[in-house]
Amino acid sequence: MTDSTPPIASFTHRHLLGIEGLSPVEIELLLDRSESYVEQNRQADKKKSVLRGRTIINLFFESSTRTRTSFELAGKRLGGDVINMSVSTSAVKKGETLIDTAMTLNAMHPDVLVVRHADSGAVKLLSEKVNCAVINAGDGAHEHPTQALLDALTIRRRKGRLGGLQVAICGDIAHSRVARSNIHLLNTMGARVRLIAPRTLIPVQAERLGCEVFHSMADGLVDCDIVMMLRLQTERMKGNYFPSIREYFRFFGLDYDKLSRAKPDALIMHPGPMNRGVEIDSELADDIERSAIREQVEMGVAVRMACLEIMAGNLPDPWQRND
Ligand code: NCD
Repeated sequence: MTDSTPPIASFTHRHLLGIEGLSPVEIELLLDRSESYVEQNRQADKKKSVLRGRTIINLFFESSTRTRTSFELAGKRLGGDVINMSVSTSAVKKGETLIDTAMTLNAMHPDVLVVRHADSGAVKLLSEKVNCAVINAGDGAHEHPTQALLDALTIRRRKGRLGGLQVAICGDIAHSRVARSNIHLLNTMGARVRLIAPRTLIPVQAERLGCEVFHSMADGLVDCDIVMMLRLQTERMKGNYFPSIREYFRFFGLDYDKLSRAKPDALIMHPGPMNRGVEIDSELADDIERSAIREQVEMGVAVRMACLEIMAGNLPDPWQRND
């Protein structure tokens, strides 16, 4: 953190629902705060009491490994009480609606709700019904703000900056909330974004997002500083988007040959879960000289600590709350 870093109270949003609409100063503030937790997470004693007395509920309507675990670790390392609710064990299975579930949890006075849902906009809807702060852990193909922040932190640590970098986001962009949040963040911070995918996996009006669009890895990867790979999100696909996995890997899977078009020190990233041999060559994914994939997971905990701290810090005085 630099001396010029604004105090965290200057981040005034009640909820963290997306990257769209955040200013460069606000993004910088979240990243600087996250940075301060990276070193702490490498110490033997990782515990702080910033969230002592606070309750965080992880409410996941979709499966998750790293996002849910890292929010849980983040909350616990800051001394908060963390409860994990997954849909398979909740009353949602018994037909309770999203809003009823939210109201039930709200009545237990949580301070932060971390929510993942398969529908775009569901997390915002929920945030309008509760008194606590809400963090979007991924809503449909819309946004996944903490993933974009952890990606940005990883890039900033490796490259020293975000502005001016050429970033390629490759693969199933049409179904990806990770891509959308990253596009907003990278554009806001002055990076240049290219999208590389078959025509069927590029969202309509992609250029409107302020990106260059390519349908060939050989062309799109030229001189890139960062190569972000995405999984084929078949769970969101209705119909056939590509002829076969083999053909997809041949044209759009990242391997050493395709990577040679990017800058010699280009960094490979992937939000996970990774499908080896589909969007990325297995050996390349494990190449520690080129891949920042493990580091992304590490940064995820630090970013979620910063987000929990800042959002909990923004809550009105509990005695003033009308709940
Ligand atoms: C991503 C997600 O859930 O949107 N994963 C993650 O959060 N680490 C991407 C994906 O599922 O492919």
